[in-house]
Amino acid sequence: MKKISKAVFPVAGLGTRFLPATKAIPKEMLPIIDKPLIEYAVEEAVLAGIEEIIFITSHTKRSIEDHFDKNLELEDKLLKSGNKEAIQKINRDIFQNVKFTYVRQKFQKGLGDAILQASHLIEDEYFAILLADDLIVNNPSATQQLINVAKETNSSVIGLNKVPKENISKYGVISFADSSKNEKLFHLNGIIEKPKSNPPSDMAVFGRYILSHHIFDYLENLEPGVAGEIQLTDAIKHMLNDHDINGYLYDGTKFDCGSKEGYVQAITYLASNMIFK
Ligand code: UTP
Repeated sequence: MKKISKAVFPVAGLGTRFLPATKAIPKEMLPIIDKPLIEYAVEEAVLAGIEEIIFITSHTKRSIEDHFDKNLELEDKLLKSGNKEAIQKINRDIFQNVKFTYVRQKFQKGLGDAILQASHLIEDEYFAILLADDLIVNNPSATQQLINVAKETNSSVIGLNKVPKENISKYGVISFADSSKNEKLFHLNGIIEKPKSNPPSDMAVFGRYILSHHIFDYLENLEPGVAGEIQLTDAIKHMLNDHDINGYLYDGTKFDCGSKEGYVQAITYLASNMIFK
């Protein structure tokens, strides 16, 4: 398998669950203590060897672009006052050689449609998808774990999380073959977005994917699914007919920062473990 060097970050969603905060500020820019939510996931991708970050964005998300660009005026002021520590924070070493690319999603037609906007930037290769809402604290990171499994199995791999019954209908839920290799690695034979009843398992997709470029064949011409949106889950379901896809129950402490509860829990966790220092 070629090196996995590109990651797609869909950030064009409307963030309605955080209104009014997200009326003028992208959800991804909400701070988790002193860093915007998006930076945690970008850091995770870069430390896992990703060299190009492709943001799928919209006209309301310009501040994300600004955040990963230089702010020369501020840098100059900090330099004059000798505040090297602050310069490091706004101009991080680990991002120096990373290419940031921005593609607009014109209409918010769903996650699947957002990913499809990156098709011209992905060649014959595997690539990562990170949903920055899902904050995962671990070392090695969730993305690193999935990259390792993709390499070992030479297949697409979806990050999984065990979810209690009462919450499972909020997620994409997998079914798997009996031949699944171990307690963490599952050979998918089905996947369904937000099942209303009879979920096929207690394992849900959680914010990280390594997919082959073949996914674009299934995203094109896909009909809208749940909530009238073009669903990535539906494309994965169709792709399963022709390609091996595994699910991996990765280790890590997981927070759904797209919900208020998860957002508060993430802040409390990082603060109490002093991880932000
Ligand atoms: P969500 O389902 O969390 O939607 O999207 P949302 O709009 O961000 O938030 P709520 O539900 O309105 O509060 C999952 C991911 O897919 C992206 C979002 O930015 C988020 O990372 N997304 C969703 C897009 O990029 N485009 C879309 O059309 C929909």
